[in-house]
Amino acid sequence: MILGMYTRQRALQLMEEWTTSESLRKHALAVEACTCGYGEREADRQGLAGDQRDVFVLPYSLAGLLHDFDYDRHPSLEEHPYVGNRLLTEQGWPEAVRHAILAHAAYTGTSRESHLDRVLFACDELSGFLTACALVKPSRSIHDVDPAGVRKKMKDKAFARAVSRDDMIEGAALLDLALEEHIANCLRSLQAAASRLGLEGMAAEA
Ligand SMILES: [Fe+2]
Repeated sequence: MILGMYTRQRALQLMEEWTTSESLRKHALAVEACTCGYGEREADRQGLAGDQRDVFVLPYSLAGLLHDFDYDRHPSLEEHPYVGNRLLTEQGWPEAVRHAILAHAAYTGTSRESHLDRVLFACDELSGFLTACALVKPSRSIHDVDPAGVRKKMKDKAFARAVSRDDMIEGAALLDLALEEHIANCLRSLQAAASRLGLEGMAAEA
């Protein structure tokens, strides 16, 4: 495998080529921000630096960007994420990335083994929920979202009802983190990426 060919830029292009929905594009970028945050943490924990660190974190970026890239065209349970996986296989994308993408969808029956597998699953629903929390703020800013408020919203069944609370809880457990800490970590990642996610708030966009 020549990882050099499989850059963030290529993943971004592929995702954008297949995804016309603006909110799904933003979702890919938001999940990427969160998965990269965990990739960087793990790289630091392992004492990696420079190129080694970059090479370690790249799959986290690719998996985040590409995990739903086929969803716009092939949203059914029969096709997503299999159609995408087939293309990624043909194009030679790293196996670790493809495995994580298959494993993020529980119904594929693919077990979550690697750190990347667990991170992608843990960030998928939570990043959507945090984005929803930002968009109901008067400011529409992710900077105004705090973990305690997120916990409160989780208990409100009518709020963002499509987002599975069980998956959010299971994700934190998979990472051996308290839910509160997982929320805080992802929130920090989204805040750092706020401008490309359109979550800086109204003041910044005015
Ligand atoms: Fe997703």
